[in-house]
Amino acid sequence: MTIESAPTSAFASEEARQAFWDDAARLLDWDTSWHTTSQILPADPEAKRGPQISWYLGGKLNAAVNCADRHVAAGRGDKVALYFEGEPGDRVAVTYKNLQERISQAAHALESLGVVKGDRVVIYLPVLIETVVITLACARIGAVHSLVFGGFSAEALKFRVEDTKAKVLVTTDGQFRRGTSVPVKDNADEAVSGENEIEKVLVIRRTGDQIPWTEGRDVWWHDVVDTQPTEHEAQFFDSETPLFIMYTSGTTGQPKGLVHTTGGYLTQAAASYNMLFANPDESQREKDVHWCTADLAWITAHTYEIYGPLSNGVTQVIYEGVPNAPHPGRHFEVIERYKVTSYYTAPTLVRSLMGWFPEGIPKSYDLSSINVGGTVGEAVNPEAWRWLREQLGRDTPAGIPMVDTWWQSESGATVLSPLPTDDYFKPGCAARALPGVSVDIVDAQGQRVEPNTQGNIVITRTGPSMARTVWGNPERYYTSYWEKYVQQGWFLAGDGARFDEDGDIFILGRTDDVINISGHRLSTIEIESALVTNSGVVEAGVCPTPDAKTGHAATAFVVPLDKSLIGENPDEQLAARQAQFIAELRSTVATQIGPIAKPRDVLLVPDVPKTRSGKIMRRLLTQLFEGTTLGDTTSLQNEPCIPEINAICRARR
Ligand code: WTA
Repeated sequence: MTIESAPTSAFASEEARQAFWDDAARLLDWDTSWHTTSQILPADPEAKRGPQISWYLGGKLNAAVNCADRHVAAGRGDKVALYFEGEPGDRVAVTYKNLQERISQAAHALESLGVVKGDRVVIYLPVLIETVVITLACARIGAVHSLVFGGFSAEALKFRVEDTKAKVLVTTDGQFRRGTSVPVKDNADEAVSGENEIEKVLVIRRTGDQIPWTEGRDVWWHDVVDTQPTEHEAQFFDSETPLFIMYTSGTTGQPKGLVHTTGGYLTQAAASYNMLFANPDESQREKDVHWCTADLAWITAHTYEIYGPLSNGVTQVIYEGVPNAPHPGRHFEVIERYKVTSYYTAPTLVRSLMGWFPEGIPKSYDLSSINVGGTVGEAVNPEAWRWLREQLGRDTPAGIPMVDTWWQSESGATVLSPLPTDDYFKPGCAARALPGVSVDIVDAQGQRVEPNTQGNIVITRTGPSMARTVWGNPERYYTSYWEKYVQQGWFLAGDGARFDEDGDIFILGRTDDVINISGHRLSTIEIESALVTNSGVVEAGVCPTPDAKTGHAATAFVVPLDKSLIGENPDEQLAARQAQFIAELRSTVATQIGPIAKPRDVLLVPDVPKTRSGKIMRRLLTQLFEGTTLGDTTSLQNEPCIPEINAICRARR
């Protein structure tokens, strides 16, 4: 059987597709309308230059005006834009009118610090109201923002400050994490200590801790922002004006700074937010309360926590802290308090929740407000998917719709996902391309693969929110994404995927995460999913390790529910219990996928290393197992687990 039509766009003609994107752009307010919907000049292999993509040429708009002012102008100024919940329990509700005023003040402040259109501002903050405000203030004056995860190391921040040549760094004295205040300003100081273009460091007081201060360079937010007028006249910018730079959490090499522009990005953010998370019943939309649990610095949050929801005038929750502080039910408490209707999170978090609540979410939490659940960041294993659907949807007899959204920092907005209005949902399946974009799954030559055969997923028709280039390195934009299928003009996403018999798409993980065992291609994610079906497993990370017999073997790092099973120098009794559990796990995999997929080694560990965006660092697992030099671990969210895993691996060798 061959897949005929499913993967391509729902539109019969290119004209119809363009008309769709014209309509989508009309969700926004434009000062000047566009004359050309899109223009794509093909890649130039000679010059090693990717395609030049432009959308809404001739159009002028302001992203911040679209996210605040226009809702106020429409008489919705008193509507809550953001419910902020701090980790220590402090709460603030910011209306759209408030938001407009605060963005205006911050815009004046940036101008007073000498920031002009085109300048870069690096924002190194936790999830705070000010983080959203300063981001939109940059957009308001045409400055290019680049958000860096609040927990990133000084080194990672330094690279971004220097690579962007930013003029201003915005940071905070400290942040609250698991009940304590953690310093942030120290990292900021270290990051700006070398050669750079930083003129001012704008500091928010969050924890009130004592911090080092450089007179003349450092300025307090409450001095320079809160004192500004609350009205600011916005300029309107060409659609292709750069809006932000998003660094991808690269596992090798230096991170790539993807450049996103204003009109196209905002259009697709707004339109896809609507398709995925807004109540399909328009009369109920005013009650929508969206919660995307991602950190604001991640692309997920840019699109579905800042620009998408705010351009639609939706009420949102933003939460500063970790999900299990002060107790593992914190998220459910938040859902209940704000009557969250759409909950968008990461599979890794779902697995943690499953570990914390093996009996299910306590009935004392009222989750009846939820009407759609969503995941992003990695393939969701069917167990986690089912758990979330059943647990969140326990008040909805048919089960809540679940959107498994597949996309990337590069695409800027969701590419594949079921729609909440679909009449069936398959666990772990990102379904099909959303209207207006098209994908295919092809082999190395560009031929569409047969169902249930792995191929490369390519975006054959990109949407308006596609990244335009790599900051300061256009050649890398070409070689990373466009070179492989330059003849066809397709974007190489870097993920393996397959169609099922219905033409629905399953993402199988990064193509570099595929393990080839005796010529059989197996996805690390598939093996992990199998392992976590065992009720004794909280989480699992699987990586390839060299094997003389089979080429590669699968090595599994498993976090057991029973922590007493972890131990690097086990006594006889523990060794026997470990061996029994490991045998059980191997047979779980054999039953789920087949004997070929059985991990050769299973290590019981306290945690698996993850990037800030929740992705398991499988390459690092290989290095740990092999005892080779570790790559850069500064971007991990749980770096302290590394020495512990290392000790366990060492004892094994
Ligand atoms: C992975 C996050 C499977 C994938 C928005 C992709 C997923 C990378 C999914 C992009 C999903 C994201 N199913 N895999 N629903 N969503 N991924 O740039 O490997 O942080 O290429 O963007 O995450 O990660 P990024």
